[in-house]
Formats: sequence, structure tokens, C-alpha cells
Amino acid sequence: MKRKITLFEGDGIGPEITAQLKRVFEALKLDFEYEEFLIGQRAYEKYGVLIPEEAIESIKRNKIAIKAPVTTPIGTGFKSVNVQLRLLFDLYVNFRPAKTMHGVPSKYDNVDIVTFRENTEDLYVGDEYEIEDGYVAKKIITKKCSERIIRYAFEYAKKNNRKKVTCIHKANILKKSDGLFLKTFNEMKEEYPNIIADNKIIDNACMQLVTNPSQFDCIVAPNLYGDIITDLIAGLVGGLGVAPAANIGEDVAIFEAVHGSAPDIAGKGIVNPTALLLSGALMLDYIGENYKAYLLRKAIEKTIQTKFKTKDLGGMATTEEFVNKIVNLINQSVL
Ligand code: NAI
Repeated sequence: MKRKITLFEGDGIGPEITAQLKRVFEALKLDFEYEEFLIGQRAYEKYGVLIPEEAIESIKRNKIAIKAPVTTPIGTGFKSVNVQLRLLFDLYVNFRPAKTMHGVPSKYDNVDIVTFRENTEDLYVGDEYEIEDGYVAKKIITKKCSERIIRYAFEYAKKNNRKKVTCIHKANILKKSDGLFLKTFNEMKEEYPNIIADNKIIDNACMQLVTNPSQFDCIVAPNLYGDIITDLIAGLVGGLGVAPAANIGEDVAIFEAVHGSAPDIAGKGIVNPTALLLSGALMLDYIGENYKAYLLRKAIEKTIQTKFKTKDLGGMATTEEFVNKIVNLINQSVL
């Protein structure tokens, strides 16, 4: 029986990279049946909502979705589609691996950092209210949500033979909220004596990331710091074009690239699809198709080392030419 996957082609460059993802999955002989829906700007224009109810029902049924970036319509009152989906399905882990690849322009070698960003609370609860001369934004940090993301990070490190987990915070100033996150981390690290556990204040962490990124292995952080440093880390390994992500909950997972809908290059045929393809590889790992995930990563890595890479990586290839090469390499392997 075909495996059903909920698929969102998104806005801007979304449809271009989704088409390439489907080509690659087909080359990998994955028997997927896609349930496709509009979300984001185009859904809003068509149905007046950012996430149609049928899309939510489809994720509930299939428990797995892959999503290209969406544009958040400009104006007040629009809650980000991404934040809504994460909260709706309690996708508490934002998993963002970043690794230097040969052929991707970067000032650094040997960067291999996996970040676990808490995905459901902190300032992203979006609770802001007016005071006499301005506004207050609520930052919520709870024991339960801190514990589950920290547990996930340590368990990942244990299963994947990673050496170290670093907790990022600002507990010197936010003594209660970030203080709780750090305290929880320090309590839980005792359960993992074979993993080095340290912590860094966010500002120092940013400085250390750009001066000596190879000292980092796994990182666990509350939502906002995790959001900011994962873009910084994407910059260390070659930019947003190569940064994949996964949002994972107890029984639902949604895979997506870190980048946005890039309206400035949409429709030009030059977008780098790597981030979404690597998010696809994360999805394959998640559903147990590890060999196909491995083949996909190998084909991407090899292609990036040739002249068939996209402009953002210093090449001349169009999106289509880049993926043609990946598909050829997949076709040459034994499946
Ligand atoms: P962006 O990530 O779309 O673009 C930033 C810069 O990176 C642009 O110059 C773009 O051309 C370039 N870029 C991004 N992805 C690329 C790729 N795959 N290949 C080559 N170049 C690439 O961020 P921006 O411009 O701030 O946001 C545009 C829209 O995307 C906004 O409406 C924003 O709300 C939305 N957004 C959606 C996200 C999602 O759905 N996951 C995440 C971030 C932003």
C-alpha cells in the first residue's frame, strides 16, 4: 500500500522546489501518495484562511507532512503558519542539523552541529499586551517543555554517539525563566554521565560560534535563541540554501527547509532546492527509509562538488540542471 504524505508546496519558490523533491523521491522509488493542500498566502487568497481545515485533517490522518516555505501575509493579525502548525500538533522539537559539505563555499571546515530548539513556548506564545507607554510580550518557560526538549537532545546524542550537549540561555539576566531551563538541563545531565554537558550564555555562544564553531556538537536552546542561532549556524555552513529542519512531536512530524519563500528569486529557475531535499532525507530517516536517505544525501553531496551547482553555491546550474544530476546519480546506484 502506498504511504500517504501530506504535502504543502507553499508560496514563492515553494512550488519550484516541491516539484524537484517529488522528482527525487520518484527516482528513489518511494511509493508515496501525496495529499496536497495550499497553506499560507495562496490559501488565504483562495479560502480566506491560512491553514484550511482539510489540511489539518490530512496531517492528523497521515502523521507526517513535508512543507515548502510559505509567505506570511503582511498586516496585523496574521499568526505565522509555522507557529500555528507547531502549536496545533505540539511539535515540541525543532531539529536542525548543519554540516559543512565539500563544494559549499564556507570559511569553516569540520562544522557538524545539531540544534534542538524548543518549539512551543518562550516568546512564540505570541501573547503581547499594551501598557501605558508601550507593550509587554510574554516569555513562557515551563519545566515540562524544558524537560522534554532537553531529554530529546540528550537521547539523540546518546543514540548517535555525539559527545557533547551545550545548553544556550541568558540565565544571568532572566534568572527565573531561563534560570529554570538551565536548572533543568543541569539536573538532567546527571542521567547522561557519558555525554559532556556544558552551557553558554547566548551572546557568548554567538561569538564562540563564529570564532570556533567546531567546539560545538549538539545544542539545546529555548525557542527564540534557537531560532536566531540556527540561522547563524546555517551561515557557517554555506547559507540558507542548504539548511534542513524537522518539527517533531510525540506522533506527528513536519519537515521543512529553514529558509523562507524567497520572493526575490521566485520563478527564475535558480533556487537551490538542497535545503528541502535534505529535509526530505530527514523525513526518510524518520520513516525508516535510512538507505534511501543515505543515497539522497550522497547524491546531493556529489553534485555539489561538480560544476552543476546553483548560483548561491558559486555554480552556474539552474535548479532543474542541479536536480538532473542528482537524479542521474540516484539512477546509477543500486536500489
Ligand atoms: P528568505 O529565507 O525567504 O530569503 C532570504 C534570502 O535568502 C533571500 O535573498 C533569498 O533569495 C535567499 N534564499 C532563501 N532560500 C534560498 C534558496 N533555497 N536558494 C537560494 N537562495 C535562497 O527570507 P525572507 O526574505 O526574510 O522571507 C520571505 C518570506 O518567507 C516572508 O514572508 C517570511 O515570512 C517567509 N518565511 C517563511 C518561512 C517558512 O515558511 N518556513 C521561514 C522564514 C520566512
